[in-house]
This record gives sequence, C-alpha cells and structure tokens, in this order.
Amino acid sequence: MKTQYIGKPVSRVDGLAKVTGSAKYSADFKVEGMLYGYIVSGSIAKGRIISIDTSGAMSLKGVLQVFTHENVSGLPWFSIKYKDMDAPTGSPFRPLHDDKIIYSGQPVALVVAETFELARYAASLVHVSYQEEDFTTDLVKNMDQSYKAPVGKLGYVSPKSRGNADEAFDQAAFKMSGSYQHGAEHHNPMELFSTTAIWENGKLTVYDKTQGVSNCQFYIGNVFGLAYKDVRIISPYVGGAFGSGLRPQYQLFMAVLAALELKRPVKVGLTRQQMFTFGHRPVTLQQLQLSASTDGSLESIKHEAFSETSRFENYTEIIVNWSGTMYNCDNVKLKYELVGLDMYTPVDMRAPGAVTGAHAIESAMDELAYELKMDPLIFRLKNYADEDQTEEKPFSSKELIACYREGAEKFGWTKRSIGPRSMREGNQLIGWGVATAAWDAFQAPARAKALLSIDGKLIVSSGTSDIGTGTYTIMTQIAAESLGLKIEDVTFKLGDTNMPLAPLEGGSWTAASVGAAVKGVCEDVKKKLKKMAVKTKTSPFYDTSSKDIVFDSGIISDVNDSSKSISIVDLMRIAGVNSIEETSTSGPNPINKMKYTFNSHAAVFAEVKVDEDLGIVRVTRVVCAVAAGKILNPKTARSQILGGVVWGISKALEEESKMDHQYGRFMNHNLSEYHVPVNKDINDIEVIFVEEKDDIVNPLGVKGVGEIGIIGVAGAIANAVFHATGVRVRNLPITMDKVL
Ligand code: MOS
Repeated sequence: MKTQYIGKPVSRVDGLAKVTGSAKYSADFKVEGMLYGYIVSGSIAKGRIISIDTSGAMSLKGVLQVFTHENVSGLPWFSIKYKDMDAPTGSPFRPLHDDKIIYSGQPVALVVAETFELARYAASLVHVSYQEEDFTTDLVKNMDQSYKAPVGKLGYVSPKSRGNADEAFDQAAFKMSGSYQHGAEHHNPMELFSTTAIWENGKLTVYDKTQGVSNCQFYIGNVFGLAYKDVRIISPYVGGAFGSGLRPQYQLFMAVLAALELKRPVKVGLTRQQMFTFGHRPVTLQQLQLSASTDGSLESIKHEAFSETSRFENYTEIIVNWSGTMYNCDNVKLKYELVGLDMYTPVDMRAPGAVTGAHAIESAMDELAYELKMDPLIFRLKNYADEDQTEEKPFSSKELIACYREGAEKFGWTKRSIGPRSMREGNQLIGWGVATAAWDAFQAPARAKALLSIDGKLIVSSGTSDIGTGTYTIMTQIAAESLGLKIEDVTFKLGDTNMPLAPLEGGSWTAASVGAAVKGVCEDVKKKLKKMAVKTKTSPFYDTSSKDIVFDSGIISDVNDSSKSISIVDLMRIAGVNSIEETSTSGPNPINKMKYTFNSHAAVFAEVKVDEDLGIVRVTRVVCAVAAGKILNPKTARSQILGGVVWGISKALEEESKMDHQYGRFMNHNLSEYHVPVNKDINDIEVIFVEEKDDIVNPLGVKGVGEIGIIGVAGAIANAVFHATGVRVRNLPITMDKVL
C-alpha cells in the first residue's frame, strides 16, 4: 500500500497543543526581567499635540519611561521612505514621529513599567493637550474628492473596460440600476496583537503576532537601523488575523523601541479597543447597471466603486474587476476611485474587495433575473463565462457549473417558487437566494528546508505562518506524502525568520506557495536517497536504475519487486550518512501564468426566514459548493469554508464599525457592540468540494480555500431576503429596520 496523506481529513497536527494550552502565542512568552508597555491612544481625529504631561506617570515607583514624540528621535525611519510588504502607495504611518495627529485613536505615548497593571494605571495619568483641526470622515459627503485608485499595492490591478457599455445599456430591452453601500468592519481576531522584544548582545529577538515574520524583520531593520541578521522574529501560533497581521502593527514598533532604549525585555499588547485603531475593511459605495436582451443574454455591465482611504496612503483592493470576468458580456465599464479621509488606512480583510464587489454584482444579477422573469440560477448559467474575457485567456480550470449543479441539488433549488413572498411558514417568510464567488489562485515564491535524520525523522521548515488555517497540518501531509514517510515521522515548523523565506500568509496563496516549496525540497531529499541507494555497495539497489525505486512508509523498494527493499534508516546507516539537508525555492510558472487565468469559484445557496412582523432575518441553511482545485485536507478545508460562511452571514446581517463623524471615531469598539453571530445565529451549513483537476495552476493543483468561502454569502443572503420579502436591501448589514 502506498502512503497517502494528501486529500485525507488528517486532524490538525497542532490541535493538541492548542486545546491543552501548550501552544504559545505571542503574549504568552515570558522572559526574566521583562517590562510591560501600555499605549496611550490619542483622543482627537486631527490636529497637533500641544503638550504631553508625563510627570504624574513618571513619579510612580516602577515606571521606567514614558515615550512620546518629544523623546523619540534619530531613528533611521525618519530618513528612509520604507514600506512594508503589504503597504499601499503613499507614506506609512510612523508612530511617535511628530506632534501631528492624523487619525482618532492614534498612539501618542508608550508607558513602560515593571508590571502591566502599573503601566496601565500610569497611562491613565498621562495628560495630552491638543489643538484640534477640522476633519472629515464621511465618504458619502466627500464624493466630489474622489480620485483614480493608483496601482502599486500587492495584488492590485486596475479594472479594464471593454466594448461600449453605455450604448448597450441605453438600447437594451431589460435593465436594472442600483446603489450599494457597505459599512466599515474590523477584523477582531480572538487573539489581541502583542509583541515581546528582547535586546541582548546586539541582537534583537521578537515574539510577535503576525502573518509574516520576514515582513516584520525588514520593518524593524529599516525603522531602527539594524542589520536584518540581527533581528529575529518568532511567531509560532497566531490566534486569527484575517489580514490584520499582514502589516506590522504599532505595538511591534513600541515594544522594540522600548527594549532598545531601556535595554530590557519589553512586552506591549493592544487592548480590544485599540484593535479598532489600525485598519479596517473600508466603507464603500457602489453603482451597478446591468442590461440584457429578451433571451436573457447580458448586454452590458457597468460597475463603479468608491472607497474610503486615509490621507496618507491609497488603500486599494479589487472590487469591480470581478464583474468583468464573472460573466460573459461584451460591453463592460468599470471604475474604482478612492476618497481620502481623516482616518487610519484601511487594511486587507478576508477576501478584500471581492466580498464587497460580489455582493453588489450578485445582487444586481438577481434583480435583473426578476426583470427577465428568469430563474436567477438559469440566468447565471445562460451568461456563464467559459473564458476570462478581461484578459482574453482561458481559465486553467473552472468547475463552477459543477458548483451550481451540486449545490442546487443539495439545496433543493428546483423546489423554489419564483415570486417574492411566495414561500412561508406561519408568519415566517421564506426566501432562497443564490450567488457566485470567484477569487484568484495566487502562487508566490517560497523557500523550504528539509532535514532528514538517521532516526528516520524529517523536519521541514519555512518562515510562513499558520493563522488558524491549517498550514502546519497540510505542510506535514505534503512532506509525508512527497517523501513516502509515515506522517508521525514528519514535523513541520514555521513562524521564525531563522527559517527559509516565505511570503506573507494571505491571499489564500500559502497552500500553493509554501506547499510547492515543501514538495520541492522533499523531492530533492528523495533524489539524494535514490542516488545513495544506487551508489552504496551494500545497498540492494547498488548499480541498478533509480527509476524503479519507490518510497513508502519509510521503506525504499523496487516498483517491480517488492522483496527488494531497504528502510531509509538502514540505507543512511550503510551509507554512513547521519543526516540529509536540503533547501529549495519554488515559484510560479511564468509561462502558465501568462497563458491562463487562475481562479477558484463557489456557488452559494442560502435560505432565510424573515419574521413578517419584526423583520428579523435568520439564515436557516447555507450550501456552499466550492471548486478550488485539489483539496489537500477536506477537514481543515471545510473549516475554512465554514468560517467564511459564518463571516458572510455576519457581514450580511450584523457586522459594522460605526463611525461617529462628529468625533471621527469608531464608536462600537468592543465585542459587545460590534455584532458578530453567536452560536444560535448559525444553523445548517453544508460545504461541498466539487472535483476540479488542475495540472496547470501549480505543482500541487491547489487553489487555496482561505477566502473563497466568504465571498458569495452576503449576495446569496440579500437575494434570499428579497425572495422572502420583496424588499431589495442593497446596503449592508441588512438590519431589521431596512427589511420592514
Ligand atoms: Mo488575507 S485578507 O490576505 O489575510
């Protein structure tokens, strides 16, 4: 029997450590002599600091320092225009740089003391006086300030139009127009951001919560003028991040600053309130106009989006581009603009842009289907895109039809009656909606190292991260399978800049990127073992062809003659080799990338029950059928999709960071007022992975599952709400006041 781990529902290899508490998160690291920092957040949205009175804090025994812009200077940061790996174009925020306040909640001081409690208390004694300036934080009121979104941020591509959408729209038989508004959202991972920095003998060791240890290493090196080799960032476990850990957060700067200045280890964490001060999913306004001919063929798609950003960076995400690839249509007009406001720069949040754009286009498609009196699923199939019309390229694979078919079947879509308000159960109006989702299948260059020891144990490492997505587990599976080892003999390590370079964990690209590197390096080890097998005199394979050698469960044997075999351990012993070490790099195939479009897809079906009197919407069933290439682990992959669907429900019905424009501040900055679903809000969720074979996208045939699960959910729910009630709610979240 051949060892086989890829495609199997292997339980999380880090599960035991996580549930027993032995997994250490960044705030769990304790060091001898450690100090604690507490950050003072500014209270105005814009202006200048006139003075900071730190005397009360400094007079307390056990308080070592209060860092402010007045006593922090001379960092190389101030002369280098450094950008982190996920920075948009513009000029990144520099903590404690000067007296300027550019957003509400901006960190203005760091109090460092012997205990956390003392630091927190001392922080309450720091008095800051400000000179306030006029500010504006309202996207709707500043639309006249919009400007074209510049390129330059990782993954951002300007939208491309084609044909003549205006003319086609004017002449079409059926049409719809709609405006869509999305509120801001904050990531709110369970684990708060925290950093412990240790400065010892000219070397800095930092435990940090991050989605990219190397990004933090470069950032710290550049900001503080340290050689990269003297900065080590360690981040073995991350308690959720969703994009909030893609950029270095300001507690990292603060902890390192204090450790360098005070020459003692320093820990700095953010409070839950402060988790609302470093980036969010932006408020957006969208306009959609679609038209179709009498047979239901799309004649034109016009999609424009306006998004808020800060005044110092142009945060961009792909919102409207999907509307040009999702459906077959010759006339497409797309536009995406930004509006700079007095707030912190938005930051990528799970399926950035796609989730926003998909809700609008999928809502609009539903609306036009009603105009045409066509079933919304049949309307989508009628306009199915067999190739990427934007880039004029075929897809490397696209099993979206199977998603529609298998999802519809599981959901029972054919039993749907077409008219709004046509299905009910007492005073519960029942609605069924469908939506489509698409996401890029990226691959970035990554490195991995393999170390096979004489005891038959393999350690593979790469400086990636596991934000709860299952990286540890799938990489262990890939390594075990690639080298034909038992999975219990394989350990995968990550989250350390001493390990080979890996990209940020984001964009659903880790399985493909780091997975390819792990596979590649294990194949290099395999080659070495084969060579050893045919070159070692006492080996049963001596002087034979290495082509016939197969690996299974730590045994090397002949494919034609299984009696001819030797264990890896014995082979290394007779060859007199104690260990085999290999490091290798894998990256995307540029020719394939040029010739094909790589997308994952999903079809989402949702059922809602709406209380006719109260307008309360409950999502009673969701079926999410996903085509994402090879599914490495159906158990962890299903969890990714479940999490995405739950968040989609949250986005559709509950989640919103409310800005008080009078103060320029998010008001519900806590988990009691920032609504997310509780267990009772979540009912049946079915996840289907349709078969999708793809030999082009990357060596593993994987497309990633981190984001595709959330993308179509809000659209499907909004469409179900219309089907139930006859009310088209275009602004998220769909709260009961909008339904009634
Ligand atoms: Mo994801 S928003 O790329 O962490």
